[in-house]
Amino acid sequence: MLAQRPPMGWNTWNTFGKDINEQLIRESADAFVDIGLKDAGYEYIVIDDCWSEYNRDPVTDRIVPHHEKFPNGMKVVADYVHSKGLKFGMYSCDGVRTCADYPGSFDHEFLDAQTFAEFGVDFLKYDNCYKPNSSHGPTLYHRMGMALRATGREILFSACNWGTEDVWSWIRSAGAHMYRSTGDIVDNPESYRKIALSQMDKLGYSAPGCFNDIDMLTVGMYGKGLVGSTGCNEADYRSQFSLWCMYSAPLMLGCDIRKIDEKTLKLVTNPELLRINQDAEARPPVILKSGWHEDCKVMFKFLENGEYALAFFNMGEKDAEMPAMFTDFGLTASSGYGLKLKNLFTGEDEGVYKEYFRTKVPAHDCAVYRAQTVRL
Ligand code: GLA
Repeated sequence: MLAQRPPMGWNTWNTFGKDINEQLIRESADAFVDIGLKDAGYEYIVIDDCWSEYNRDPVTDRIVPHHEKFPNGMKVVADYVHSKGLKFGMYSCDGVRTCADYPGSFDHEFLDAQTFAEFGVDFLKYDNCYKPNSSHGPTLYHRMGMALRATGREILFSACNWGTEDVWSWIRSAGAHMYRSTGDIVDNPESYRKIALSQMDKLGYSAPGCFNDIDMLTVGMYGKGLVGSTGCNEADYRSQFSLWCMYSAPLMLGCDIRKIDEKTLKLVTNPELLRINQDAEARPPVILKSGWHEDCKVMFKFLENGEYALAFFNMGEKDAEMPAMFTDFGLTASSGYGLKLKNLFTGEDEGVYKEYFRTKVPAHDCAVYRAQTVRL
């Protein structure tokens, strides 16, 4: 069964856009393994938009790989990715063209699914541009959902309609394993915050089998990427990655992993944060205001094995003292229990707290703890 845990991987779009080719994929697959992403649990290498010729093959009606970018075809690329023990993802669209104006799969769903299966694809991101006005969005996702299954190959279906048409209410029925719930991320603080805040009340629609996808991470891009990417600081990247983990969101890296810096690598392979993200129960956190500031959020997430994650996000521009009142999560003072906390960035035990915990969080930054109830 696919997507029992949030899918993890890397996607070309955020950093490379249309500038993709076989060499980039080979080098990224090499780096993926060499720097330890595979060992940390990352799995998919995904080629986004702009991989094909501008038009379908006039004889076979198939989408064909671009002759300069992928001169040896896609099977060779897939085979290379597989030879590294990784899985291979590609991209298409439910409209007549993709978002970057290459052939889309509208009315070609079964043929294209077959083509992807023959390439050896394990993951298909399915976008939503150039959709005919006369068509019904959910039906188009159902079509590709069925087309992928009809191939007989196990292909993870990554829907990308940007949260339109109340996607959370029907996308699981269309066979998708993850679904984009927002517009495109860009590498700046406003973008990731806006995205995360927009899904606070939608996380109940995310669970094993089909996860709410709040877009590829910009962590580690430092402004090198698509339009609007002015970059984030390290506190922002810590916060972004931790938010994605608290939300049980798919972790698709978007930076150039061949040139990843040490701090980013340490962050995205932090075993404790990944454990929260990959928690088998994938329960959404309770999200509350912390203290007086609307920009300060505290989140509490039930984990498997009776544990919890407690996280503080300061999305404001000033450092803040951030409290969490345990009774807000169900732990009353009269219970006789407290919370034992471990700081997941420093690895240090913070001790046992009764009734509340308070921590100072710098602007843009976060603090994340694993918690256990202990008898006082
Ligand atoms: C849309 C998607 C992006 C990316 C581009 C490619 O904007 O939301 O994630 O796939 O298309 O053109």
